[in-house]
Amino acid sequence: MPKITVRKGDAIAAEFSASPDQRLTLALVDNGIDILHRCGGNAKCTTCRVTVHDGEPARMTVAEYDKLKDKDLLGDVRLSCQMLCEADMTVEPAHLLSDSGLDDAGSRPADDITPTPEWMDKP
Ligand code: FES
Repeated sequence: MPKITVRKGDAIAAEFSASPDQRLTLALVDNGIDILHRCGGNAKCTTCRVTVHDGEPARMTVAEYDKLKDKDLLGDVRLSCQMLCEADMTVEPAHLLSDSGLDDAGSRPADDITPTPEWMDKP
């Protein structure tokens, strides 16, 4: 099972194993990381964005590509709601509920990637 390492600055916030078919957002949430996911995992809000320090997946969904390009974030971050825990990764969430002042992180994303993924190579 892939190992997911979560950083907060220079510190390791969490390390856990995840199923390769699990959405990264859900793996983070289910392991105590209060990452925001305000659009419910639909590639619309970008609050689930992570910096990938190591092990960045070589593919992305077209929905992720379109949203990152639209927000001028392409090449800087990835959308955890559009990623699977396919391999070992070290990631750092950009937005945590505990730092946000918001009341909730967003509704829980579906188990499978939404919208239905169309995969492409990461540019
Ligand atoms: S883009 Fe909104 S939760 Fe991922």
